Amino acid sequence: MTEKLIIFDTTLRDGEQSPGASMTRDEKLRIARQLERLKVDVIEAGFAASSNGDFECVKAIAEVIKDATICSLARANDRDISRAAEALKPAASGRLHLFLATSALHMEKKLRMTPDQVFEQAKLSVRFARNLMGDIEFSPEDGYRSDPDFLCRVIEAVIAEGATTINVPDTVGYAIPELYGNFIKNLRERIPNSDKAVWSVHCHNDLGMAVANSLAGVKIGGARQVECTINGLGERAGNCSLEEVVMAVKTRKDYFGLDIGIDTKHILATSRMVSQTTGFVIQPNKAVVGANAFAHASGIHQDGVLKARDTYEIMRAEDVGWSANKIVLGKLSGRNAFKQRLQELGVAMESEAEINSAFVKFKDLADRKSDIFDEDILALVSDESVTHHNEQYGFVSLSQHSETGERPQAQVVFTVAGKEVKGQSDGNGPVDASLKAIESHVKSGAEMVLYSVNAISGSTESQGEVTVRLQNSGRVVNGVGSDPDIVVASAKAYLSALNKLQSKADRVAAQG
Ligand code: KIV
Ligand code: ZN
Repeated sequence: MTEKLIIFDTTLRDGEQSPGASMTRDEKLRIARQLERLKVDVIEAGFAASSNGDFECVKAIAEVIKDATICSLARANDRDISRAAEALKPAASGRLHLFLATSALHMEKKLRMTPDQVFEQAKLSVRFARNLMGDIEFSPEDGYRSDPDFLCRVIEAVIAEGATTINVPDTVGYAIPELYGNFIKNLRERIPNSDKAVWSVHCHNDLGMAVANSLAGVKIGGARQVECTINGLGERAGNCSLEEVVMAVKTRKDYFGLDIGIDTKHILATSRMVSQTTGFVIQPNKAVVGANAFAHASGIHQDGVLKARDTYEIMRAEDVGWSANKIVLGKLSGRNAFKQRLQELGVAMESEAEINSAFVKFKDLADRKSDIFDEDILALVSDESVTHHNEQYGFVSLSQHSETGERPQAQVVFTVAGKEVKGQSDGNGPVDASLKAIESHVKSGAEMVLYSVNAISGSTESQGEVTVRLQNSGRVVNGVGSDPDIVVASAKAYLSALNKLQSKADRVAAQG
């Protein structure tokens, strides 16, 4: 029988650690449902002890997702572990993921602990966790830069205490494929009880080798779990990309010889959902999910593909969901068709009122844009004015005037805690004027660290999707807005970022 490769998705935990990628509870729930549809084996839903908000997210995901194991990260101490176990109580299948740094650098400078203290804490924490749950993963943080002798000692002890998965993180993305693969192979060969646990890889992408390193960990090292994120989202240069690692193992089954449970047809929709939710735009030449991943521009390539697709294509675009990229709805589509498409796209709306509100937006969009694609629908439901009625700021309307040789003027009407206000300003361009018009009223003082515009579905008829990243008092947030008018999309993105800044500030205040 072919062995299975376990896909452990950490988009909602490690992915969310990217600056500006923080997600609301509803956004996380929507992504978790999509990950379930994608059939990932394990969803790391968050770090329950890190905040009340994270605790609630892990709990909410554990309540609704039944087909995947739900995992929470925890530092290797009793308080974190108890909190994680509490959040995971409703899960059909739950996992505690304990981590403790083992590299000399981290132990001395960060933890200020001796190796013996770390050894004891690792052992005792797994013993404590094992009394609460049967499925225990242990990660020696910065494992790849740890002394192999010490690592063997720690891992042998935690397996003896009942750890069922051993994850070897390349926390800082320092590894080289062959070396990382052999590192894991040696650990497995040297540790007498290594066969009692599933071995896992967790690679960061600082040198652009996260996917290659993970694959080497599987092929050379014998790991049978890969930790990864959608679109490779994650701190700094990100994590191993789920879509790339999955398609590599599937496409080259001749080499890896492993089965994978992922329903690859949902890859593209998941990638888009994560991108639209976090505001992290996908580069066009990104493998598997980039706009150009299956586009052939050169005449020779086009001719070849038309004659026989496999001349230039190693995967079928429809196998990763590109066939879903078609016109699905239009002006004449009714509420039922819209509701059904939402279900097919994995968008769960909690109330009829929410569906009605989204449907009104859909009709409004269909009046202005003849062809409505799946991406348009996903962008529409990501729009906070549809899904979050009680946000601090909401877009109402915008008018602006710009003419060659004249300084543009803008007037924006928006709501603040449900009350309509009006801001006016001039600016360098219509976008600048509109955002200054909002700021003239809000006076957030936030610094804009990124502004980007992306066409959702390719043509000039497409909706513009704008990402705005704001920074204030050490907090970084991304806001996303979409509209056929990019000035309006910009105003929506700005208001969405202000909402996130506000809710982050509220969360910090609530934690005291
Ligand atoms: O990169 C890392 O070391 C981690 C651990 C917490 C698993 O994310
Ligand atoms: Zn990590």
